[in-house]
Amino acid sequence: MYDFKIAAADKPTLYRDLVQAMEALIGDESDAVANMANAAGLIWESLPDLNWAGFYRNVGGELVLGPFQGRPACIRIPFGSGVCGVAAETRQVQRVADVDAFPGHIACDSASRSEIVLPLVRDGELLGVLDIDSPNPGRFDEEDEAGLRPIAELLARRL
Ligand code: SME
Repeated sequence: MYDFKIAAADKPTLYRDLVQAMEALIGDESDAVANMANAAGLIWESLPDLNWAGFYRNVGGELVLGPFQGRPACIRIPFGSGVCGVAAETRQVQRVADVDAFPGHIACDSASRSEIVLPLVRDGELLGVLDIDSPNPGRFDEEDEAGLRPIAELLARRL
């Protein structure tokens, strides 16, 4: 059993602890599905105010749902569609304070109000995206993005 004690501290401390826990959880494991499943679980347990956390994988140029925590979600998302599809196409982090204002946002869960999507790139190849949603508007700020970037880099090495 893993029992990481990640307290709700200031965000830099929270993300420092989260990346250490993630390293301990997936650093020695090479199975991509196991690592995505555990990563989704750890993020879900560690970050407050989320309603979805998980992965879409690049399967032949289309995003296909991977391991996640939260409500059942859309299965296939074309590159360029919605927040995840734009993150995949541009390979840029998409941090959206108000999903209703994002053109083409895909409402898998109508409770979602804000969202951050990080592309997972290894050796120039897009492996997929990490998608984290919140029922709170503007849930993800620059500190969240800065804290999640190293987690996405770590994940990209272990998928
Ligand atoms: N809202 C996302 C779709 C994925 S779900 O939120 C899990 C989007 O617009 O890409």
